[in-house]
Amino acid sequence: MQGALKSSVRLLHTARTIIFSNYGAPKEVLQVLKHKLPEPGLGEATLKLIAAPINPSDINQIEGTYASKPEFSKRFGSSDAVAVPGNEGVFEVIGLGEPQTGIDRETNSKDVVNTSLNTLEVGDWVIPKKASFGTWTTFKNAKISDLISLGKPNGLTPLQAATIAVNPLTAYRMLKDFAKLEKGDWFIQNGSNSGVGRMAIQLAKLWGIKSINVVRDRRDIDELKQELHDLGADHVLTEEQVADRSIKTVISDWTNGAMCKLALNCVGGRSSTNIAKQLTDQGVIVTYGGMSKQPVGIPTSLYIFKDIHSRGFWVTKWKNNNPEEFEQMIQKVASMFRAKELEVTAINTVEFQNLENAPSEEFLSLFKSSIAKSGKYVIVAN
Ligand SMILES: NC(=O)c1ccc[n+]([C@@H]2O[C@H](COP(=O)([O-])OP(=O)(O)OC[C@H]3O[C@@H](n4cnc5c(N)ncnc54)[C@H](OP(=O)(O)O)[C@@H]3O)[C@@H](O)[C@H]2O)c1
Repeated sequence: MQGALKSSVRLLHTARTIIFSNYGAPKEVLQVLKHKLPEPGLGEATLKLIAAPINPSDINQIEGTYASKPEFSKRFGSSDAVAVPGNEGVFEVIGLGEPQTGIDRETNSKDVVNTSLNTLEVGDWVIPKKASFGTWTTFKNAKISDLISLGKPNGLTPLQAATIAVNPLTAYRMLKDFAKLEKGDWFIQNGSNSGVGRMAIQLAKLWGIKSINVVRDRRDIDELKQELHDLGADHVLTEEQVADRSIKTVISDWTNGAMCKLALNCVGGRSSTNIAKQLTDQGVIVTYGGMSKQPVGIPTSLYIFKDIHSRGFWVTKWKNNNPEEFEQMIQKVASMFRAKELEVTAINTVEFQNLENAPSEEFLSLFKSSIAKSGKYVIVAN
């Protein structure tokens, strides 16, 4: 067994890593650094990037407005303390350091290979256990105890694996943990074309829950509506349509008079008001994002006459509080991807090779405000 733990790869890799030394607009503060990677240390693995998404939280983290902060330290020979962005991503294990010894949990004996920390093999795909891992790098060494193994890909695609830990889990937990949704019940959400929104549509469809999905209007709105219907959306409305007074009757016709038990809000402002208005008595609105940068607006009458509940969800906190369940969820979502029950759609890719000396114009233009074009971007290694 121990033989399998050792790697044949003992080279020093030249890594390219995106760094920043001050918080600010990504376009202004990001740089690319080329540096040599040392051999992996005790209990460490050498990782090669497969793919890493650019999530809204990554942008907020670079701007300095995100609750979870990256670690700034002097590394890669830099004179300033630098941080590496990227909270999520998938890597391939290409090398392993000496196995870590310690107390074996099963036998309780000391100084033996701690099997729970040394089960990785070269070729396995891994994702970080925690946020602020610094995924925007082509190679890195990491503690095996900081990684979750997805094993060999076995049908899992790079884009699925790279985005497995945040959006599917967020959608999954929000649909399960805030309202008792039975088959045939309705929920409403805004930002429905986002990564989380698309996951919520697919999960709801799988579980027999009906969805009303709100998106911003655009030139190709009919195409987007069709795309979301194809994923499993029951109804798709624009922000203008859901804001119209007549929408209550339209929705009532769709639902046979039922109102929504749950509203998922990642936008805030007027958009949150409009989806909250579709809630039933004691319905729950869960806020998990604030894309409009406007406060959540819930009319007083909804609290008084309907006793609606307003809650919040942050997947980082959930996984820190539920580390074992988090790992089980990852394996569950991986098997749903492999079984083709879930799909990752509307992804644009940016190649790391364009970042040889400095982030390319194409890459930097993604950060002009938040996400410049529609759809999520994933950095792919080559
Ligand atoms: N709390 C948590 O644990 C958690 C976990 C994951 C994600 N999130 C949050 O969930 C949201 C979606 O994340 P994601 O990764 O799924 O996003 P994504 O795939 O990158 O999509 C971004 C979404 O935001 C919409 N949007 C952008 N700017 C907007 C604005 N000014 N007003 C209204 N909508 C706007 C986009 O709509 P258009 O196509 O119309 O631009 C799109 O639907 C983000 O706020 C993110 O921070 C939270």
